[in-house]
Amino acid sequence: MKHLIDPHDLSRKEIEDIVDLALDIIAHREMYSEVCKGKKLATLFYEPSTRTRLSFTAAMMELGGNVLGFSDAQSSSVSKGETVADTTKVISCFADIIAMRHYVEGAPFVSALNSRVPVINAGDGSHSHPTQTLTDLLTIKREIGRFDHITVGFCGDLRYGRTVHSLIKALSRYEGVKVVLISPDVLRIPDYMKKDVLEPNGMEYREVNTLEEVMSELDVLYMTRVQKERFDDLDEYERVKDAYILDAAKMKLGRPEMRVLHPLPRVNEITVEVDDDPRAAYFRQVENGKFVRMALIYILLRWAEEGKNPDEPLVPEDVIREGHTCNNPKCICNTENVPAGFRKAADDTLRCIYCEHQPD
Ligand code: NCD
Repeated sequence: MKHLIDPHDLSRKEIEDIVDLALDIIAHREMYSEVCKGKKLATLFYEPSTRTRLSFTAAMMELGGNVLGFSDAQSSSVSKGETVADTTKVISCFADIIAMRHYVEGAPFVSALNSRVPVINAGDGSHSHPTQTLTDLLTIKREIGRFDHITVGFCGDLRYGRTVHSLIKALSRYEGVKVVLISPDVLRIPDYMKKDVLEPNGMEYREVNTLEEVMSELDVLYMTRVQKERFDDLDEYERVKDAYILDAAKMKLGRPEMRVLHPLPRVNEITVEVDDDPRAAYFRQVENGKFVRMALIYILLRWAEEGKNPDEPLVPEDVIREGHTCNNPKCICNTENVPAGFRKAADDTLRCIYCEHQPD
């Protein structure tokens, strides 16, 4: 069975199969209108979402399938204290595929470990958001035409922004991708992203403080919202929330071929005047999200039927269970009764198998 928990679960070929299928769906929508007839998608959303949940729902409906689930954990048995593992065991008796969003990091992974059907991570805490990444990749494909040899500027909340972490992981599969990280010091990208993704893959990257100094080199400017809900200290949020505002004056510094992406929702980091600039691709990106989720659902259901990866272990065989604790309070091994586990990273340090943080 194949799940999508992290962008690293997909090879370059698999990414391209999904993106190509999404392009085919866009070109021949009617051909796909019944391919998931009789199938059910469960959307288990423990954290607020508009676009992602509705995009999954619309995607399954356009494939001719049905959708069940919850958008508010308080209305489910979770409020009675049910674990992610138990909820998954129950739901996988009803549904053919599950999309889970959770505020706890590693929750969709634990779900996959307990599921009889494919599980898709629809966003786990500050960790990962692979279907947004597929959305971003389809957008880059349609707007720029290639994934190799591009310069991508990530701007804003690179610390808590899971969409940033996931897109960089996927881009690490490609040649000659240059990454420019634009953020205030307190919102810098987590260390594991540098040590485990950027550096071992030989990706050229640099950290800068202002948008102005890099605008002219970018093919893609990936803007992000400062993730208020992830801050422990709201004063800190207040200090950085307006750090970057993309407006028409700054857009003048960008090249005509540059594209602006944003996973949305936007707060104030892009002024509305930018929306009319043809380089603003973020509303086109939303629609791409539905097409790429159609492709993903269809492919995962097909792979499940074909028995793709029947023996591939989800937990690495050399997992280290003893002697360390994960120090991330938002990791599922600290919020539910699941055994801590660590794997060796490229730089030989240990990483939690659920949230990728380095243990104590
Ligand atoms: C993003 C998310 O949930 O991480 N939104 C989305 O899925 N479209 C970005 C965000 O919330 O800022």
